[in-house]
Amino acid sequence: MTETIILARVLTSETPQTTLLENVAFLVDAEGVIQERHSLGTERYDALSAHRNAVRLSDETLLIPGLTDLHIHAPQWPQAGMALDRPLEDWLGTYTFPLEARYADPAFAEGVYDDLVRTLLENGTTTALYFATIHEEASLVLARTCLRYGQRGFVGLVAMDHPDLCPPDYRQVSAQDALDVTRRFIGSVRALPGNEHGLVQPVITPRFIPACSDALLEGLGALAAELNVRVQTHASESDWEHQHVLDRTGQTDTRALDRFGLLRAHTVLAHAGFLDQTDRALVGNRNAALAHCPISNAFFAGAALPLRHVLDEHVHCGLGTDISGGYSPSIFENARQAVLTSRLLESGTNPHIPASERGLPKSRIDFQEAFWLATRGGAEALGISAGQLMSGQKFDAVEILGTSGALRLRPKDDAATCAQKIVCHASSQTIGRVWVNGRQIKEKASPPC
Ligand code: GUN
Ligand code: FE
Repeated sequence: MTETIILARVLTSETPQTTLLENVAFLVDAEGVIQERHSLGTERYDALSAHRNAVRLSDETLLIPGLTDLHIHAPQWPQAGMALDRPLEDWLGTYTFPLEARYADPAFAEGVYDDLVRTLLENGTTTALYFATIHEEASLVLARTCLRYGQRGFVGLVAMDHPDLCPPDYRQVSAQDALDVTRRFIGSVRALPGNEHGLVQPVITPRFIPACSDALLEGLGALAAELNVRVQTHASESDWEHQHVLDRTGQTDTRALDRFGLLRAHTVLAHAGFLDQTDRALVGNRNAALAHCPISNAFFAGAALPLRHVLDEHVHCGLGTDISGGYSPSIFENARQAVLTSRLLESGTNPHIPASERGLPKSRIDFQEAFWLATRGGAEALGISAGQLMSGQKFDAVEILGTSGALRLRPKDDAATCAQKIVCHASSQTIGRVWVNGRQIKEKASPPC
C-alpha cells in the first residue's frame, strides 16, 4: 500500500466536544497513520489537493472517525432481536448457552461470522471487541474473518469452567483445560497469516465470575501478565449477578477481578451499572475501562449505568451493542439509547412520584458526548490510536452521507448540530465508504441484501 490523500469535511472527537473542520486534506502513510492534516488556505492543503491521486469526498458527506463496538458476542448474532423474555440468568441457560454450543462446528461459525463482520462494517464499526465461544477453531474463524474484511478485531475465546453455572456440554472440563486452550489461542491469533501488523488481537475472556472457578480466574490473571494480553469480562451487570459475586467472594466484581490480577490496563468491564464509586476509582487507577451497553441494560440490568458520573470521574468508557442482549448491531443506535437512558435516569420514570423526587439529578449526557463515546471513547478504552482524525492517529474513518435516510446535514450546521443529527439519524443507510488503517474496506454503495 502507498500513501493516500483524502479531502473532506470532517467531524471529529478531539475532546468530548466535537470539532467540525470544513475543508481538510489528510496525508495517510503506508502504515495507515495520518501523517499530515491541513486546512484550506494553507500551502500544504493546496499541494495535497492538487495531487492526481487525491480522493475528494462530496460536499454532502461528512467524514467521521470509525466507530468502536466495545462489547459484542459474535456467536449470538443468530438470535439478535429474539429471546429477550427472560432474566439474564435464565436467558443464558435457556437460549444462549445452547446456541453458543453449536459453534463446536466451525462450518456454522463461518457463515455467521462472515455475515456479522460485514454487517458491522456496513454500520460503521471499524473496531470490535468480541466474545467468541469456548471453541478454539470457531474462535479462530472469527479472527480470520476480521482479517479477511480488514476490520480491527479484538477476539476472545471464552473461558468458563464452573459446573454450577455452565452446562456440561458447554464449558471447559477444568481450569487447566481452559488455561491451556486460552494460551494456544493467543499464540495462534498472533501468528495468523496476514496478521503481521496485529490488526487482530487475542483477548483473555473469563465470561464472568459466576461462570469461572477461582483457579481459572487466578490462572487467567497470571496469563494476562505473562503474555501481556488485554482482558474482557462482564462485571456487576444485574442485581442477580452483582449479588451472586458478593455472596461468593465477599467482594464486588471489580475488587474480586483486581484480586485475581484481571483488572489491568485496558481491561474492559461490560455493563458495570452496579459499580460503586470505590469500584470506579479502582477501574480508573488501573487504566481499565467500562463498556456501556444501554440497550441490553434495559432488558437485563434492572438499573441504568450512571454514565454522567463515569464521564465526570474520567473513567475510560465506550459503547457496546452486547449482541444479543442488545438487539441492534449499530453503535449509533446505542449512542442514541445512551442519551435517552441518561435523560430517563435524570428525570425518573414513575409518574406517581413527585417530579422533585422522581429521578437522579444531573445524570444527562449530551449528543456530543455520545458521539465521543462511540468514536474516541471506545478506542481510548482499548488504548489504540484511533477514534480521532488527527496527525499521529490511525486513519479509521467512516463517510456519512449527509442526505440519506432520515439524515439531513446542512452546510450551516455547527459541530453540535452535526453530532446531534448523526447520533439521532445515522444508520447503515447513511454510511458510505469505510477505511481501517488507511485502507478502504467498504465501498460507497452497500451490496443489496
Ligand atoms: N453475562 C454472562 N454472559 C453473558 C452474555 O452472554 N450476555 C450478557 N449480557 N451478560 C452475560
Ligand atoms: Fe455481554
